[in-house]
Amino acid sequence: MPYSFSRSSALFERAQQHIAGGINSGIRLLEKPVPLYFDRGDGSRVWDVDGNEYIDFQLGQGALLYGHAPKGLADAVAAQAKRGLHWAAQSELELEVAERLVKMVPAAELVRFNNSATEAVMAAFRLARTHTGRRLILRFEGHYHGWSDEGLVGFANPPSTWDDPENPARTHPSKGIISEVTDQFVVARWNDIDHLRRRVEQHKDQLAAIVCEPAMCNTCCIEPGEGMLAAIRELCDAHGLLMIADETITGFRFGAGGAQDYYGVKPDLTVFGKAIGGGTPFAALVGTRAAMARIISGESMHAGTLNANPLCLAASRWCLDEVLAQGPGHPANLNRLGQKLMAGLRTLADQHDIPLRPQGPGLAFHSLMVNPDRPERAVANYRDYAELQDVARWTHLRRCLLEEGVRAIERGLWSISLAHTEADIDEALARAAVAFARHAESWPTKVG
Ligand SMILES: Cc1ncc(COP(=O)(O)O)c(C=O)c1O
Repeated sequence: MPYSFSRSSALFERAQQHIAGGINSGIRLLEKPVPLYFDRGDGSRVWDVDGNEYIDFQLGQGALLYGHAPKGLADAVAAQAKRGLHWAAQSELELEVAERLVKMVPAAELVRFNNSATEAVMAAFRLARTHTGRRLILRFEGHYHGWSDEGLVGFANPPSTWDDPENPARTHPSKGIISEVTDQFVVARWNDIDHLRRRVEQHKDQLAAIVCEPAMCNTCCIEPGEGMLAAIRELCDAHGLLMIADETITGFRFGAGGAQDYYGVKPDLTVFGKAIGGGTPFAALVGTRAAMARIISGESMHAGTLNANPLCLAASRWCLDEVLAQGPGHPANLNRLGQKLMAGLRTLADQHDIPLRPQGPGLAFHSLMVNPDRPERAVANYRDYAELQDVARWTHLRRCLLEEGVRAIERGLWSISLAHTEADIDEALARAAVAFARHAESWPTKVG
């Protein structure tokens, strides 16, 4: 029997009375048929308030690299809570976490902590502007850098703005932003090196930094094409810009050294979020000594009441040790499990004539649902994805998966945790087989 969600529905209705819109992050409204209310999690599994059990590939939007409620992490947080929740001052814990980061991450010489990656990205942009004395940040369509005024410029430019492919627009999905903010960005298309060179050449005297997700996990999990990251590094060196890697998703998922180690590139500044705290509100800005100098001098202000909070630090110390304990098998083990899941989903899709194309390295991947009205092609950037993705059909399939106990991120991203096993993948595929059959039967284009 497919799951039902009556208690979640009742709570969501009750929430409308006192929580604006019933949710606390806009994206959660994407969950259909209703934003779910959860009760508990354990390893690869999570249970909602209706008692439904999910094999979870949503994983707290990727933060739960270690699975749900790992005992060691829960113990570390509980032990710290008894010693003190918050001091707004220094602790030896912050040295221990900083020392681990410097040991693990190739481009980390100095660190500063924040409570969300959105904040750490804002700090990186401010620092790059202070460092160079220039105002523009070059960023790529489809790369997400937090929900601030600055983080979202040009993230999801609608097709109506695509007339001039050389000059992608600087649209912002929110009203109420400071209008001048969009003027502080240059937007480029991902995975087109010649186009990137022309964009930099055009603005080089005013450019402070190039920022990217090393793999564009937020849009179809599109990895950097051959030479893409090296070209960014080379252009930054040639013109005195800082290279900012936003490793909020890739950090520690792509290995102990993050995506910078996985792909072999050394940014000047790196942002970590999500897995660095394992589900606690924690983030870090790390960088080379040279790039971090203006934070040391205080010219680029960086602050926050809850920065380097001991609860988050205790969690992060456990998380980083857990990553280190994986040894050289990480991230290959995650990739192996993810690739097995991708291949299984593709087989099921083919059996039912569903145009689903899982794509990405494995440790994370996106389930691209191809719109039958569009000629199928390789997906190299945001525009390919925006043209090809059949949002309505993916939403329908995701709901069928949810009703059979398999949970992916609403927009189509799947992540594997260190708690997932071969048996979890087999079981997820068995559940998915039922979901795919139900989807194929009930998807509107198949009816009649
Ligand atoms: C690449 C990237 N950068 C920044 C952020 C913002 O992180 P947070 O929501 O923790 O502020 C996210 C969140 O999904 C992200 O994926």
